[in-house]
Amino acid sequence: MDPLTALTEQLDPFPQYRRLRDESPVLFDVQREAWNVFRYDDVQRVLSDHRVFSSQLGGSGGQRQGGLFASSLISTDPPRHRQLRSLVTQAFTPRAVDALGPRIAEIAEELLDRSAGAGEMDLIDDFAYPLPVIVIAELMGIPAVDRDRFRRWSDVVVSQTRAGGVPQGSGGHAEAQAEMGEYFLGMIERRRTEPGDDLISRLLAAQIEGEHLSVPELLGFCALLLVAGNETTTNLLGNAVLTFLERPHLVERLQADADALPAAVEEVLRFRSPVQSMYRIAAQDVTLSGEQIPAGSRLVAWIGSANHDERQFHDPEAFDVARTPNRHLAFGQGIHFCLGAPLARLEARIALTALLKRLPGLALQSQTALERIESSIVFGLKHLPLTWENL
Ligand code: HEM
Repeated sequence: MDPLTALTEQLDPFPQYRRLRDESPVLFDVQREAWNVFRYDDVQRVLSDHRVFSSQLGGSGGQRQGGLFASSLISTDPPRHRQLRSLVTQAFTPRAVDALGPRIAEIAEELLDRSAGAGEMDLIDDFAYPLPVIVIAELMGIPAVDRDRFRRWSDVVVSQTRAGGVPQGSGGHAEAQAEMGEYFLGMIERRRTEPGDDLISRLLAAQIEGEHLSVPELLGFCALLLVAGNETTTNLLGNAVLTFLERPHLVERLQADADALPAAVEEVLRFRSPVQSMYRIAAQDVTLSGEQIPAGSRLVAWIGSANHDERQFHDPEAFDVARTPNRHLAFGQGIHFCLGAPLARLEARIALTALLKRLPGLALQSQTALERIESSIVFGLKHLPLTWENL
């Protein structure tokens, strides 16, 4: 099997990452025409040195994805990036996010109420997917009842980027983007006439040097927040529950001491990073781990590999909730550092606390084989069937 395909399909890609870090830490993949970067120091540099590694020239979900994402925050370099980011940082400061805590707890309890009596559920479909999507929909002021559509769109965006980021076919992708664009255009028009206390209304009112955002920029924000705020957090929750349930002593410890949860979530972010890779374009000739990369080349920074690099982490294949420091790159680094990190951390803390408290005897349904979502960007499970003691 081609060494990169294994990374996007296997539930345990970590031995393969290790081989690549040791034998070809910066690997040119002819088929996908991209330089793949596997070591922590190199990944960190690619993500954070925005002068050399551009996001705008076709980087993370940018022109490569075309359409909606081309004008979004994640696909721009300074100075435009700085201007766009300043518009949304207010909504995502730790203080602003903390204020969402009670509502997140309410949503978690409501979702658990629906399943608690049944004694079983699919963690992904019944809990980990709806929770972040309801939160982000309410924040944006779009109807959470439309969430099945949101899921279809983000699934298409994510699954189109298998094996090193090259879209595998374009039909469903273009269609999903067109549908998403039309949907958000309608929402934007509605907010123009009836502004509310939501993110879309605030973005409509916002100005940069006396100018409002263009319609493509507004659509880019909406699409990015919906996709970024959704699939990633779902996978963090799924990966956390799988990792905890594989270690029953840890579940007991977390049930007894909820204060231990934030460190456990950080270790899940490192150990099974929901985002495994990000893209850049070399804006100039550059050398990484001895390989000369010409200007204009596409690069894939493998966050999932960097977070298991033994050059940075002691005993990286061990899940260690006491790991300090834990300088994982799961949320990226530098100017594109994940805007939603405080929200994702809060959602994970509240959701996992509720789950562990409400469902005694929580266990994996052992008869079901787990399958990974096929994607080079995200790392998560298609389904995670659980059982518990039905009191
Ligand atoms: C950027 C991961 C949740 C919004 C990023 C980046 C990573 C990441 C790795 C850096 C991209 C780059 O360097 O090109 C994650 C993970 C999440 C998560 C692992 C959950 C566990 C969220 C949430 C939101 C969000 C909940 C919003 C509600 C964004 C945005 C950016 C971003 C807008 C672009 C920031 C910029 O370009 O300045 N995220 N994310 N993310 N994330 Fe997240």
